[in-house]
Amino acid sequence: MYSLLIEGGRPLEGEVTISGAKNAVLPLMAAALLTREPCVIRRVPALSDVAFMVRILTAVGAKVRSQGDTVSIEANRIRGFCDYDLVRKMRGSVCLLGPLLGRLGQAKVSLPGGCVIGTRPIDLHLKGLRALGAKIQIDSGYVCAQTRRLKGSAMFLGGRAGPTVLGTANVMMAATLAEGVTVIQSAACEPEIVDLAEFLNAMGAQITGAGSPTITITGVKELHGAEHEAIPDRIEAATFAIAAACSRGEVTLRGARPEHLHAVLDKLEEAGVRLDRAGGNLTVKGGRRLRPVDVTTQPYAGFPTDAQAQMMVLMTQASGISILTERIFETRFMHVSELARLGADITIEGPSAVVKGPSVLSGAPVMASDLRASAALVIASLVARGRTHVKRIYHLDRGYERIDDKLRRLGARIQRLSDS
Ligand code: EPZ
Repeated sequence: MYSLLIEGGRPLEGEVTISGAKNAVLPLMAAALLTREPCVIRRVPALSDVAFMVRILTAVGAKVRSQGDTVSIEANRIRGFCDYDLVRKMRGSVCLLGPLLGRLGQAKVSLPGGCVIGTRPIDLHLKGLRALGAKIQIDSGYVCAQTRRLKGSAMFLGGRAGPTVLGTANVMMAATLAEGVTVIQSAACEPEIVDLAEFLNAMGAQITGAGSPTITITGVKELHGAEHEAIPDRIEAATFAIAAACSRGEVTLRGARPEHLHAVLDKLEEAGVRLDRAGGNLTVKGGRRLRPVDVTTQPYAGFPTDAQAQMMVLMTQASGISILTERIFETRFMHVSELARLGADITIEGPSAVVKGPSVLSGAPVMASDLRASAALVIASLVARGRTHVKRIYHLDRGYERIDDKLRRLGARIQRLSDS
């Protein structure tokens, strides 16, 4: 087990390179199961979630080779079984369901279970796959799905919190090999879905409308191998942008795609953060007094739930009252109690957090609870006076590639300690 020891109070200065997107790469790797031919995915970040996906693909019989930021996958002979022990540790592996069902006509994948941010049901995934003609039962904690051949159909995949990202990915992947045309209404519009559709089309799929609420997939007999470079991680970019603003520094986010970040950049500018988009790179300049803003998390292109915890830290430094409302995950405020330990003044009122600022934060031992809450604690530590010890940072390593090295190169005083 590792922890981070951070000395706060220094502005972040310089350039940081944004890695490939975790939430693009996981479904891209699963999509390689749809063909027996080799696939190559580039700009794959070195994350524990990716390492886990390599283990899971290997467990279903694929040959997987990693070299630097490139992963080669050959799923010539695979089986449709993914056991609980693997899935429970990385719920993103639920996106194997669609490719296994599309390729093999049967799949047995463990139910992923919930996590600290919410119950994380997969009812919409199953609704979509059943609409394609799959017979699905839940047996001893496993999703058991089978079909002679999937048949395209029209379906509505919206849930109580709007579209489902991995549910859209699962159904889109399965539909590429279904007989006939599939139309997904209320599809997720995230850039990661667009990236996946581009990779599937490079493999010979016929998908239109990705990025819009209506995606149309015309099934084909089989898919072939392809190469693809994943999009940069918009949530990592948002995290570093917010960290730069909080530390009152100046950081250029090399490789970030501002067009994937409109909602976050809009709120940062509303709060008084200066952005410079010259030369094709995005530079974030903190420094001036921060104004309070109200944020509500929404499906893309709204403010991303994965940047809510990080934004809350910025709001602790704004002069006034900000309200952050979480509309995607029902319990995504685990970071609030830990931020309060550092001196933040936050009150939870139902789905909203009322943040009073500016608060003087001071270092203290804190405990990470989930991936984005950990990122928020690291940002708060950079602002806090004195030293902060952030424990259980395995959560952080799931979704941020060497974040301590990247922050150190920006001038942060940060050490990785081994707690074992
Ligand atoms: C993806 O999760 C991301 N994970 C999450 O990122 C992200 O927060 C989420 O999309 C929303 O943007 C990956 O891509 C690996 P959803 P996903 O299905 O697809 C409800 C991170 O920090 N829902 O879009 O699992 C669900 O409970 C992670 O990187 C149903 O009700 O999320 C939630 O309220 C965290 N039934 C809402 O929809 C379903 O069948 C959105 O969930 C599926 C989802």
